[in-house]
Amino acid sequence: MREELGRTVAKGVLDHDRVRGLIENAAAAPSSHNTQPWHFRIETNGVSIHADTERRLPVNDPADRELTISCGCALMNLRVAAAAAGQAYRLELFPEGEGAACLARVTWQEGDADAEEASLGSALARRRTYRKRFAPSTVPREASEALEAMAEREGAWLQVIESGEPRWEVARLVAEGDASQWRDPRWREELADWMRPVRQRDGLSVPALLAPVVRAVVRKFDMGRRVGEHDRELTENAPLLVALGTEGDGRRDWLTAGLALERVLLAACQLGMQASYLNQPIQVSSLRDQLHTVLNRPGHPQVLLRLGYPPGELPATPRRPLADLMLPVRD
Ligand SMILES: Cc1cc2nc3c(=O)[nH]c(=O)nc-3n(C[C@H](O)[C@H](O)[C@H](O)COP(=O)(O)O)c2cc1C
Repeated sequence: MREELGRTVAKGVLDHDRVRGLIENAAAAPSSHNTQPWHFRIETNGVSIHADTERRLPVNDPADRELTISCGCALMNLRVAAAAAGQAYRLELFPEGEGAACLARVTWQEGDADAEEASLGSALARRRTYRKRFAPSTVPREASEALEAMAEREGAWLQVIESGEPRWEVARLVAEGDASQWRDPRWREELADWMRPVRQRDGLSVPALLAPVVRAVVRKFDMGRRVGEHDRELTENAPLLVALGTEGDGRRDWLTAGLALERVLLAACQLGMQASYLNQPIQVSSLRDQLHTVLNRPGHPQVLLRLGYPPGELPATPRRPLADLMLPVRD
């Protein structure tokens, strides 16, 4: 389905199969713990996206902040996939008259598709969360500036955290965040629950034979100090370390953060980079203020990322079947 994007289509007349292809691309978005917390509804002339609160992470993400960011990423993918298929659209966030779970609606329109969004289309199937060490190559200033512009286009900001004092301080907060999360048996329980064999098609994939053992170890042992030291080193040596943030800190800001995050990730992928997350000092609320102080700018950090050039390819992580994501079409 994804490869259908290249085909030209008459504007404003996407057929059902093609819309399902766009939704498949939306669902390839990143999400915390790979929960894929989204539903889609095919509307008369567009698609709406809804939060699936059955897939929330009450310990890691009690306010559904990351859940909403994840849905924002899926919405960005939907927009990019539509643009790459030549389709113009109108976007409404939190459309009136829909329930609280409805986060956005795109309505197909006559006209030219957004060329810049369309140009990101080939990254949709290539973006990955890359948790290993990046190649030691530095990221040129023009590349980080291009990513800053991507976040700004969606109404968010991206701040580069330079090496030296600010990096060390952020790396310390990441390690402290790991220690705090791993100390909490409820957090470990939730993480273990989402460690799943690939055949389950969601969660953080672990080999089926090892899954019971890995889950038992995660539940039982506080590995915060070891994980923290590893993450501290990755943070200090990241080719590029950035915080993505928003002016406010409500649902609309979180959705904006998701749109901006995915736009940054797709653009980074086009530049040969991948990213992984060091969100611990944002997830642990007592550390978020300290991170804010280091960043020294107005607004609220939403995601902390390291980016670089991966030395190898990574396979795609699993996704749930489309049928499980769809809300019934309205009469
Ligand atoms: C809002 C958000 C928060 C995330 N937080 C983390 C995190 O703290 N640590 C991590 O390793 N991955 C994090 N991820 C990445 C997801 O685990 C990843 O997207 C998911 O496993 C699917 O893999 P993929 O991105 O390669 O498609 C986050 C993703 C999103 C969108």
